[in-house]
Amino acid sequence: MFFAERMQRLGTESAFEVLARARELEAQGKHIIHLEIGEPDFDTPAHVRQAAVKAIESGFTHYEPPAGNREFRAAMAAHVTRSRRVEYSADEIVIYPGGKPGIFLGIVALVEPGDEVICPNPGYPIYESVANFAGATPVPIVLREENQWRLDVQELIGLISDRTRLVVLNSPQNPTGGVLTQEDLEAIAAVCIEKDIMVMSDETYETIIYDGQFHSIAAVEGMKERTLIVDCFSKSFAMTGWRLGFSASSGEVAEALTKLMINVNSCTASFTQQAGIAALQGPRDETANMVEVFRQRRDLVIEGLNQIKGISCLKPHGAFYAFPNITGTGYSSNELARKLLDEAGVAVLSGTAFGAHGEGYLRISYAASQDSLREALRRIGGLLG
Ligand SMILES: Cc1ncc(COP(=O)(O)O)c(C=O)c1O
Repeated sequence: MFFAERMQRLGTESAFEVLARARELEAQGKHIIHLEIGEPDFDTPAHVRQAAVKAIESGFTHYEPPAGNREFRAAMAAHVTRSRRVEYSADEIVIYPGGKPGIFLGIVALVEPGDEVICPNPGYPIYESVANFAGATPVPIVLREENQWRLDVQELIGLISDRTRLVVLNSPQNPTGGVLTQEDLEAIAAVCIEKDIMVMSDETYETIIYDGQFHSIAAVEGMKERTLIVDCFSKSFAMTGWRLGFSASSGEVAEALTKLMINVNSCTASFTQQAGIAALQGPRDETANMVEVFRQRRDLVIEGLNQIKGISCLKPHGAFYAFPNITGTGYSSNELARKLLDEAGVAVLSGTAFGAHGEGYLRISYAASQDSLREALRRIGGLLG
């Protein structure tokens, strides 16, 4: 079978591979605690589900404009204007089937073969994968525990070359839970403006923040025109399976992304977009409650991890992942992740699933019940004790 050469440059997301292995073990009768997949264990709010059913019943089963339903884009623009504190209009919003299409199409639209794309490492693996696919070179910017997992602006400056086209930011971050401060964003913005570089700001965890306020680089003076915000409903509204995401950018970039949508998807499902309107305009108490429950679980998990021999863990400021340092256990990240799954029935990800600089760490998703988390901590402690 012949495959295009570019297929060899495309990576993957190992969370799905670990999930498959965990399911195999379950099929053999083993009890597995799932802390590998990044998915809220909450149901989509009832008013959102009802809006989708009503939309199907009332005929929202046809094509929508490729960039998205007009009313939804206007509601989305109002939401982004409020939450990012920078003005967006409906023409600057594009709706996608999920968060990943915004990342994929954004990189495809903005990056040329031979360009360099600066990506956080450890970081969400899809940025590097798609940059490679587009023929560009991903350049890792190392995030460090001693810097609270925030990007070091001096290091960023050192990585910029005349081929640097795009810097990818992700705050709150997957996998570390690190959050960039307003000062960080202002310093990064100054560099990008001076060197004429675009930013893709992945704001998927915008609402899942525990300490302080969310800041978007798009709100820094001079940055709106050079920022592509990508975000989705997957985590904030517990809507992973619905496939609903969006981008906010300049109108020019939105037009390019719309052209890609015409070629790839025609449009995002029309009834899903109606559900999106209900999510934006309805009560937000379920999201607020979910974040509060995540906060309690975070405190439980971090305290528990820090009591286990060989493990230490910083308290994450956002998202729903713990990223413990496991160097004191004597195992590599892959070895320990494998041992935990096979011998203790706890599915977690190796830090290296997020790049080479994740070595020495594990990613633990605490989107699971407190009872499951306590049992997982007991099993991990038992294995390492
Ligand atoms: C940082 C980040 N960006 C984007 C996504 C993609 O979201 P979706 O599942 O809606 O494609 C995820 C999902 O895990 C994520 O963690």
